[in-house]
Amino acid sequence: METNHIEAFRTALAVQLGVSEQHISLFGKGRQGLYALLRALEIGEGDEVILPAFTCVVVPNAILYAGASPVYVDIEPCTFNASVKNIEAALTPRTKAIIVQNTFGLSPDFDPIIELAHQHGIFIIEDCAHGFGGQYKGQANGTLGDAAFFSTQWNKPFSTGLGGFVYAKSPHLAKAMREKELKLQAPSRLFEWSLRMQLLARKYLLRPALYWPLLKLYRKLSNWSIVSGSSESTELVSTEMPKNYLRAFGKNQAREGLRALSHFNELLAHRQKVAAFYDDLFRSLELPRPHVPSYASHGWLRYPFLVKDREKFLRKAEQERIPVGDWMRSPLHPVSSDWSQWKYRYGEYPTGEYLSAHVLNLLTDADITEKQLTRIADFLRKNIHELMPLPQALQGKPVQCTQLEEAGIG
Ligand SMILES: Cc1ncc(COP(=O)(O)O)c(C=O)c1O
Repeated sequence: METNHIEAFRTALAVQLGVSEQHISLFGKGRQGLYALLRALEIGEGDEVILPAFTCVVVPNAILYAGASPVYVDIEPCTFNASVKNIEAALTPRTKAIIVQNTFGLSPDFDPIIELAHQHGIFIIEDCAHGFGGQYKGQANGTLGDAAFFSTQWNKPFSTGLGGFVYAKSPHLAKAMREKELKLQAPSRLFEWSLRMQLLARKYLLRPALYWPLLKLYRKLSNWSIVSGSSESTELVSTEMPKNYLRAFGKNQAREGLRALSHFNELLAHRQKVAAFYDDLFRSLELPRPHVPSYASHGWLRYPFLVKDREKFLRKAEQERIPVGDWMRSPLHPVSSDWSQWKYRYGEYPTGEYLSAHVLNLLTDADITEKQLTRIADFLRKNIHELMPLPQALQGKPVQCTQLEEAGIG
């Protein structure tokens, strides 16, 4: 009998998250899962959805496609997530949901946000695009709020090329989401075949030494629509929903997902070990580090760090073939101007804007070896003058997030 890869994938996800598979629905991309969730929660015209002013533009897009308004809140400097204080200040009688993001795989402090949402009868949606595998107080990221959407796009905690899924906590919402999934149009054979070829190419070609040439090639080919980039060009210039926005998750994607999930725990342990290496290095160099609280076990999709001049640093990294990522180069990544159509007012979110002008990230992927780590550490030591220093007053002391804020980093 032919294996039903889609159902097997759903079950594997449920096992990993510690939930029932009835509560998981699959989508062509994470953003589609968010859109479907908003519709299932009947959030639309006249409603407001709070989200961090440091996200991917496809998130406010989904809110706008549903007819609701995105309301941005500034983030904290070393969690890269919105604080409860900023969220509370943005609440209005029209607020229907709060999106809480696991930026770079860093888990936010959920409890105070959940408490606030309960007090006001507001839904919590976790943007777990970066957060799968991480935990908050021993519970899987994505299972803390009312619902969560996840991404399995190329660079995510595990990849199916493109793809996404949703966890919905209440049986009622879960049923509504499964009904939405059933109505989705299956991906074309051509799409599935092309994605499979790209996944194969990635598996055999992606090595740290080839990181820069492949990244450039991928960006070029996706601009020309030859490979499946994560966004259509219309999504980056307009807030109108593209045609055929919603798509089902394909069989081949499910097969790939199953393969990736079968060794996900080793990958997660590797990411955490690599991040601990970077963290020790940044501590020894007295540089600002992301917040590593006792309440969370971060998934560490990437290790974020701050540089003075991003373009200069990237040029040097490329010359020396050091893999460095540049996600969130804008508060609504990757849109670099004309934010008003997303209802984003540039200048009102100083921390997110500052961080998005200075942040880069180090990779934690499976192919980052000990030898690579030594090269990366040597490169960072050699270029220490290019990295954002800790304020004098904090040097030599354990740094708290609030201290960084007070010291003006952010
Ligand atoms: C923070 C964040 N949220 C949501 C998404 C959307 O995920 P997808 O590409 O699967 O739609 C991304 C994508 O990269 C992201 O970085």
